Amino acid sequence: MNLTVNGKRLSAEPAPGQCLRTFLRDHGWFGVKKGCDQGDCGACTIWLDGVPFHSCLLPAFRAAGRAVTTIEGLAPEGTLHPMQKAFLDAQAFQCGFCAAGMIMTAATFDAEARRDMPRMLKGNLCRCTGYHSIDDALHGVVNVEEDVSGEACGRSVRNPFAEAIVRGNAHYTLDVPPMDGMLHLKLLRSPHPHARIKSIKRDKAQAVPGVVAIFTWEDVPRRLYSTATHEDHLVDPDDTYMLDNVVRFVGQRVAAVAAETEGAAEAACRLLEVEYELLPPVFDPEVAMEPGAPILHDKSVAFRDNVYVDIHGELGNVEQGFKEADAIHEMTYATSRAQHVHLETHGTLAWRGDDGRLHVRTSSQAPFIAKQKLCYLLGLYDRDVHVFTERVGGGFGGKQEMISEDLCALAALKTGRPVMWEFTRAEQFTSATTRHQMTTHVKLGAKKDGTLTAIQVRVVSNTGAYGNHGGETLAASLGSPIAAYRCPNKKADGYAVYTNMVPGGGFRGYGASQSTFAIECAIDDLAKLLGIDPFEIRRINKVRETDRIESIWKDPSDVEFGSYGIDQCLDLVEAALKRGRGLSKPEGDDWLEGTGVALAMLESGPPTEHRSGAEIKLLPDGSYHLAVGSTEMGNGSTTSHCQIAASVLNTRADRITIINADTDKTPYDTGTFASTGTVVAGQAVEKTALALRDVLIDFASRHFDCKRDDCRLQDDAIICANRKIPLAELHAEGAKVGDRFVVRRKAYLSPRSVGFSVHGVRVAVHRVTGEIMTLQSVHAADIGRLINPMQCRGQIDGAIAMGFGWALYEKMVFDGNGAVVNPALRDYRIPAFADVPRSEIYFADTYDKVGPLGAKAQGECAINAVAPAIANAVANATGVRFPDLPLTPDRIFDRLTPAATGDS
Ligand code: FES
Ligand code: FES
Repeated sequence: MNLTVNGKRLSAEPAPGQCLRTFLRDHGWFGVKKGCDQGDCGACTIWLDGVPFHSCLLPAFRAAGRAVTTIEGLAPEGTLHPMQKAFLDAQAFQCGFCAAGMIMTAATFDAEARRDMPRMLKGNLCRCTGYHSIDDALHGVVNVEEDVSGEACGRSVRNPFAEAIVRGNAHYTLDVPPMDGMLHLKLLRSPHPHARIKSIKRDKAQAVPGVVAIFTWEDVPRRLYSTATHEDHLVDPDDTYMLDNVVRFVGQRVAAVAAETEGAAEAACRLLEVEYELLPPVFDPEVAMEPGAPILHDKSVAFRDNVYVDIHGELGNVEQGFKEADAIHEMTYATSRAQHVHLETHGTLAWRGDDGRLHVRTSSQAPFIAKQKLCYLLGLYDRDVHVFTERVGGGFGGKQEMISEDLCALAALKTGRPVMWEFTRAEQFTSATTRHQMTTHVKLGAKKDGTLTAIQVRVVSNTGAYGNHGGETLAASLGSPIAAYRCPNKKADGYAVYTNMVPGGGFRGYGASQSTFAIECAIDDLAKLLGIDPFEIRRINKVRETDRIESIWKDPSDVEFGSYGIDQCLDLVEAALKRGRGLSKPEGDDWLEGTGVALAMLESGPPTEHRSGAEIKLLPDGSYHLAVGSTEMGNGSTTSHCQIAASVLNTRADRITIINADTDKTPYDTGTFASTGTVVAGQAVEKTALALRDVLIDFASRHFDCKRDDCRLQDDAIICANRKIPLAELHAEGAKVGDRFVVRRKAYLSPRSVGFSVHGVRVAVHRVTGEIMTLQSVHAADIGRLINPMQCRGQIDGAIAMGFGWALYEKMVFDGNGAVVNPALRDYRIPAFADVPRSEIYFADTYDKVGPLGAKAQGECAINAVAPAIANAVANATGVRFPDLPLTPDRIFDRLTPAATGDS
């Protein structure tokens, strides 16, 4: 067929049944993204004869004779469409994966459409931004500030890849032309929650034209490992095989097929004949702990039956604490199993290079640990493996796993051909990881004046079929949410329990989200019992700056207050709620209004080891090249790393080019998770920049015979007393004597600081329909010094949006067989533009003495306070506590009491 794409004639035949999205991508138009498979996300938006379409919904042959425009052709070469410019100025993206589709849709808006953006943008989803910055772009707001030499830190400097993102030229993991001989991998997955595989017949599958290799459990190394990536691999149980002869959840890998096309691989998967011996499943962790429950793993893997790990601790004496209490509140609270929904699904491309080494291009938050695991599983030497990321389209903890690299690498080595594997959106739900479902019983005792006398917590975490992150998330749930309150008597018991469910994993907030929800709801319930204001009870009991930060363990930890801003956060939110900006409650008696608040405290970085390295080199033109091992996945770390280096080197951020997350080209990094991008990798950058500054000044002082104290870096030059020597000249002088001006340093996270968040919200609840309307949303965060205020606001905005989704509707629903029944974005709803309130965001004025240049972690703490604040507001409005998430209208409707409905 013939068509024009971006003004150029294209003659090509689509494959039978091919959609326009994959057709365009096959022809190199990678600005057309895949975020789903059925028209739900808008990442694939293009124009067909000037009208925006979701190209994944359009059969490619329908484009015959038509004019297709993709983001790459939106503006003449070298120019920007006004909407691209608006997105650039507002920096209306984080990972940027949605940006092309969002711009293609928004670029068609006239003035009337702009007045109705909640409806006009309903077909374009963003998981990162919370839509605030996108709203800004559509209103012409400029968020980006000028990049000033020596003042980069503290300014809203533009992301170094911003232009590539708005032009559609930023290349994500699978934005790569097909390699010669490339194969596609597809998986057959288990339809049973628990079964032993008796046999797999592959004859029919093998006969499908184009099938090159089939892998079952008999074809892979029989080595146990964990898919979780941590510096210390001992914190996760080795309970997983690449392919196993026992399946433990619906969606588990059964077999993999590598074929010339995705279609052939899929067809072959359908023709594999598997004989299963069904085993009894168990889905409820409480039942799984009972004697006689079906056991998921052998004793050699899990020695305490289904309890993968249990954690217990007590400070003081809670029994005595409850005796001293004037009031006791206890209740069980539960949170839902949720999915990350990073818009870029998991994907990997692996091949053996001309150098004989295995190269793995992947969407990972931890490429260095993924490499270690590949070496272990495949029996390879470190030197023989190269793992790297290109731009990563979101992660939120979901990519702190190695779940797509292993089979791709195995298939590439076995077939000798490049192999690509891209998860479908459905696979993200059925077969990737999730937020652990946790049920938390909280018992609180307090004096009449509100002073806590005892805190007791019991957490049961449903870790699903495998224990990746099960222990660490459980430990996190028993850590900072309890330590946020001073109380002489604290006790907690936690259990991470295997069940035949899709596994849990790391997810923004990492276990602490779930128990923060429970504890913050319980604190409000206690306040109500005592007749104390919710802000007041938190002020009475919050941990003090002079306190030790203690949860339930007597052991000293490495956590300390690098700065302390919880008081400011409480004051800022309370004042904002009192000012009462936002919407008013709708008219009529059917709407009930309520206000809620919750606080969160979270460590800046994980308790497990975390290491980062950086390298900075002075280039011949006098600019710098920075190499950092940590992954950028929309967390803004590449921008803040350039800013930190620029501040130390007294230059502009745009004088620093950056590469990240490449095991060949950057120093080691444990991974971008647990909010370490700024505090650990940023520390490595700061140390490296300081060291290079010393090297440059020492050389200049010696070479130009000038006192060291009279030498300083300034812009693109070094000042030596009265002389100004361009850095390019300095480099040339260094080259003459063999000085390379390259420095490498490492950072290790200890001690760790803590960040704080307080969220306040006013809601209206419709007493008949159960609808919840947000009237005002306010957030205050203590994240130390703001390296990039625009990005910091963006991270908080994104966390708030995710918190609203989790609180109000996000929930994976399972049938009686443990199968996910809503594995699509139209059924598992994430917040769209219309769903997220424009929150007021405030920052405490603190400077952290632990983090780089005064900064603390910013990516995770914010989400933890959101859901409990909303639940507290709903309880305040209705007089009824809804202790389970999400707060969907049907559940509100079902459980409103006569007191709330006004019925008698
Ligand atoms: S990829 Fe087309 S709408 Fe999601
Ligand atoms: S920036 Fe929108 S999905 Fe990441």
